[in-house]
Amino acid sequence: MQELITLNNITHQYQNETILQDLNLTVSEHQSIAFTGHNGCGKSTLLKIIAGLIRSTQGSIRYYRDPLFHYVPERFPKMNLTARQYLSRMGKLDSLDAGEVCRQIKKLSEDFFLSEMLDLPMKHLSKGTLQKVSVIQALMKRPDVLLLDEPLSGQDTDSQNVFIEKLNELRRQGTVLIMSCHEQYLMDSISDTVYKIDNTQLFRLDDKKSSGGRHYILWFERGIESRLPESCSGRMTICGDRYKMEVQENESNQLIACMIQEGWLLRGMEDADHQ
Ligand SMILES: Nc1ncnc2c1ncn2[C@@H]1O[C@H](COP(=O)(O)OP(=O)(O)O)[C@@H](O)[C@H]1O
Ligand SMILES: [Mg+2]
Repeated sequence: MQELITLNNITHQYQNETILQDLNLTVSEHQSIAFTGHNGCGKSTLLKIIAGLIRSTQGSIRYYRDPLFHYVPERFPKMNLTARQYLSRMGKLDSLDAGEVCRQIKKLSEDFFLSEMLDLPMKHLSKGTLQKVSVIQALMKRPDVLLLDEPLSGQDTDSQNVFIEKLNELRRQGTVLIMSCHEQYLMDSISDTVYKIDNTQLFRLDDKKSSGGRHYILWFERGIESRLPESCSGRMTICGDRYKMEVQENESNQLIACMIQEGWLLRGMEDADHQ
């Protein structure tokens, strides 16, 4: 797969607090990536850096070709324009002709159960409805890369299903999806690669079958005041006084560093594929 975006040693700080540290990531054509992690871990920040909306404190991003980006924020600014006026203006900015814009607005607002609300000022619309307007805008002209910040957080079940359907349609047409989200079923239905952001680092969370790489069994003992990093929760099995964790090769170094930092003692490492 051809590379589309590479992040090289991206570090981001807000007022001297490091949110993301030395992240490296390659996004390739046809990929669908999700970033997950607890509130405040830096998902929105990373999306904005990839979208070019904020500049990272250190590191660089390389964009291959010149992809058309669309960015759907979690919270949309409230404005006096109606959704129809907003979508028409954005369609014009995307160089779509007026007839095409009208057709797209009609079709997409029906798909998203939004037709009744098209002529209300946007400042009166709920968070979920504003997210729909924002997604409709992103769908009117198919982008090469669609960035979505927690797209389901304000949506009812019917709209969530429409979202999943539309996003998969875009994937089939070749749009690269990069989103932040908490919902496991959304990641299962849309994403082929999932990363967790924890403690300023990025960890890949794919399962064994899809990754194809080597796997290791790590053995740990608790040290004094050890604490389980969130990225490892649910992955440890207790065997006597030791703790066992199966990891992929590409995440092992980061996980070991994280565990040691949190007070754990590494007692052994075995090749899981030769068990
Ligand atoms: N503009 C900003 N100025 C200062 N701190 C910020 C700013 N934006 C986000 N933060 C802080 O950075 C951390 C990461 O935020 P964010 O990227 O929004 O996380 P997430 O999307 O994972 O919830 C949080 O602690 C947040 O309070
Ligand atoms: Mg966020």
